[in-house]
Amino acid sequence: MQIKIHPNTIIIPEDQETLMEALIRHRLPVQNICNGKGTCGKCKVRMIGYVSPPSESDIKHLNKIELQAGFRLACTVQPEDGMVIELSFVESQDRKVSALLGMKTCNLDPGIEKVYIQTSKPTLADERGDWDRVVDDLRAATGRSFEKANLYILRKVPDVMRAAQFALTVTVADDKILEIESGDTTKRLYGVAVDIGTTSVAVALIDLNQGDILKVLSTENEQTAYGADVISRISFAMENQESAMVLRVAIRRTINHLLEELAVQTGIQLKEIFKMTVVGNTTMHHLFLGLDVSHLAVSPFVSACNRPLEFSALELGLEINSQARIQLLPNIASFVGGDTMGAIVGAPEVLAQGNHLLIDLGTNCELFLKTDHTMMACSTAAGPAFEGAGLAHGMRAKQGAIEGVTITDEGVVCEVIGGKEAIGICGSGLIEAIDEMRKAGVINKQGTIADPKKQPTIAPELLKRIRVGIKAREFVLAYGTSDGYDVTLSQKDIGEMQLAKGAVCAGIKTLVDMAGITVLDLDSVTLSGTFATYLKAQNILSIGLVPNIAPEKIKTVGNAAHVGAIRVLMDRRELAMSRDLYSKIRHVELGGSAKFSKYFMSSMYIEQ
Ligand code: FES
Repeated sequence: MQIKIHPNTIIIPEDQETLMEALIRHRLPVQNICNGKGTCGKCKVRMIGYVSPPSESDIKHLNKIELQAGFRLACTVQPEDGMVIELSFVESQDRKVSALLGMKTCNLDPGIEKVYIQTSKPTLADERGDWDRVVDDLRAATGRSFEKANLYILRKVPDVMRAAQFALTVTVADDKILEIESGDTTKRLYGVAVDIGTTSVAVALIDLNQGDILKVLSTENEQTAYGADVISRISFAMENQESAMVLRVAIRRTINHLLEELAVQTGIQLKEIFKMTVVGNTTMHHLFLGLDVSHLAVSPFVSACNRPLEFSALELGLEINSQARIQLLPNIASFVGGDTMGAIVGAPEVLAQGNHLLIDLGTNCELFLKTDHTMMACSTAAGPAFEGAGLAHGMRAKQGAIEGVTITDEGVVCEVIGGKEAIGICGSGLIEAIDEMRKAGVINKQGTIADPKKQPTIAPELLKRIRVGIKAREFVLAYGTSDGYDVTLSQKDIGEMQLAKGAVCAGIKTLVDMAGITVLDLDSVTLSGTFATYLKAQNILSIGLVPNIAPEKIKTVGNAAHVGAIRVLMDRRELAMSRDLYSKIRHVELGGSAKFSKYFMSSMYIEQ
């Protein structure tokens, strides 16, 4: 049996395999949040030509237009010979883009430069070799010495020199020559900052001559097909060597795909990218490098390497200039990685005098506390709810996602990204919806949706919106049009959010206790993470995501981890600073803390 994946890939499913299992086995990108149970509705593909009858899950998760257009959930499709499938391509831009726009300008000293030299033509009176000529002229132009020969460059020197009358551009980093090109290409020097998230990956293309952000793109991390969170990725990687390689290939393919897209959309050539900086949690860092992750998740939770690292693009299989420098920010511990260090570099105000807390919100949530006496960090598993995943109608913050909710006795008004019909809800919408539902009495402080039969004191318009879903009650946020479906929040969704916010709030209380201060002693609380950009201090406080603190002390800084990667890309001193910092930060393990467990129970309530 053969299935064609549009446009030209053929896969051969095995007996009893679902379409999604076959896609994963062939390493094709498909989202698998619920492990193929048919409950997350994320593994959407489109069938071209023959379309199989919709399953119950298809009908529940897809709207009429999607069903008519041939969309089906891959985990419910039984392969048949001759099927033609189009994979639903992820959007290449979302809020990660705008989450960077508020970035403050920083110093420009990337540690890579292009130098134009006009070398002299060899003569019988000047028989110096081509390479020697380059090295001499470069020393004259820069006052620095570049003695180390690079075989890759030596082999092309003669041709490059003669292609433009001995005029050439040399790209240098420290005392190394990375590249030589004919003519004057000094204006074309680029770098890329990469943020490898568990759920999505973002790249920012920077002009290293001007310091301008030229383009930011993001897409789903292809590793999502093998598990929604770091623990499931670690388990998958530990199955055997091939599984670990599958994850390594998946993340590199995701990055290379984004790089190609950057080149297409901006007209630059990939070989003009000479520097890349990478931030990611420790698991993503290890999987990207192909390091052993088996010790990350078992006590005493040790990483293969924490210190900052540098490789060439060639070593890591990245499709930019093969000699480009790839720098990874240091990890702090097994679950507090280079992304946290990136967030600190990206939001340097947390290092100012006083007591400052940085919360990097994501599937894994990291906390960094700086007081006048200590620096501490910890992580707490929030789950994918903040990213809009794992919810009945959860989605990333893109077109069609509910991002804001207002509930009055007259009904519910949703703010939808793009202003069109709501098709789901993202993390910021979820927090606002839960806060509003609590204020309107739709849920109580335990998070339980009111029983309409018990005639709670809720406005009739809101009462109508409470109904019994598949297993428990749900609340309709937005009614679908005739072709659409209703966007609801189920009891389970609310529970997911309570777990996530309980973990964050308990982490804050524990860390502050351990530092010997109280929450009231905090001078600032900085929330970072793409979705945090769109949170309102009032909602954060009233659902109890952070403990009681003056709202003016709370601020959001966008995707600070990615901003940190950009700052390191633009200014080499930032990497030196992170090298200096990482070993001074004390890591706190919350796992075995009785204090954390106690705080966690009380932090699940939806209240201040
Ligand atoms: S993986 Fe198919 S619905 Fe979740």
